[in-house]
Amino acid sequence: MGKIEKYKEVDSLPNVFTTPEDFKKALSALAPYKQKTIVELGAGHGDWLLEYAKEHPEYLFVAVEIKGDRIWHGAKQALLENISNILFIHDDALRIEDYFPKESIDELWIQFPEPLPKKKHEKRRFTAHNRLKAYYNLLKPKGKIIFKTDEPQLFQFTLEELKKMSNFKIIKVDERFDLHRPNSGPLARLTYYEQQHLEHGREVMLLIIEKS
Ligand SMILES: C[S@@+](CC[C@H](N)C(=O)[O-])C[C@H]1O[C@@H](n2cnc3c(N)ncnc32)[C@H](O)[C@@H]1O
Repeated sequence: MGKIEKYKEVDSLPNVFTTPEDFKKALSALAPYKQKTIVELGAGHGDWLLEYAKEHPEYLFVAVEIKGDRIWHGAKQALLENISNILFIHDDALRIEDYFPKESIDELWIQFPEPLPKKKHEKRRFTAHNRLKAYYNLLKPKGKIIFKTDEPQLFQFTLEELKKMSNFKIIKVDERFDLHRPNSGPLARLTYYEQQHLEHGREVMLLIIEKS
């Protein structure tokens, strides 16, 4: 199936949401029956999150992705395999405040987001101060943000932005996470872009912070 066909089909899939109203209905029907709500921003094909969802049917997963032809893959696969504990939001991740109630997310994953190096795009970076503030409100107490990148400048920028906030506790800073990857759990599994970066000899940095 071509890109255009995927774009045409994606928003009609029953597990894909394009408005906060529809998504909130689905969330309130499912979340009370799940132990945790786990969200990935810029999820690409959604394949990484889908694997996590398969391992943990007791949790609810939400993949957010702006490109319909990408998220189509994960959404279709979830339907094919009858995986019902994962939902897909086809929208700009900068709008997640509209989709989630306050204090509703346990884990927020940001993996290899666009670095957006131009100064004029700073506020659109997924880890800009204004975004961290928004995530803070959406996280449950002790909720975590897990951020991985291969872009040292974005990593340093994120640490600087974090200094402007006193209400996150730093759990882990690892500038050579590629050398210290665990053998099991979600951090053991590579994302699609992570795999590509490692093949090109790039280093991976990891930051985990917790709402205090
Ligand atoms: C470099 S890819 C990483 C994909 C995946 N996380 C991985 O590691 O394989 C960045 C993804 O973020 C998506 N993206 C970029 N800006 C976005 C935005 N504002 N809202 C939602 N998704 C966005 C892109 O379409 C792309 O799929």
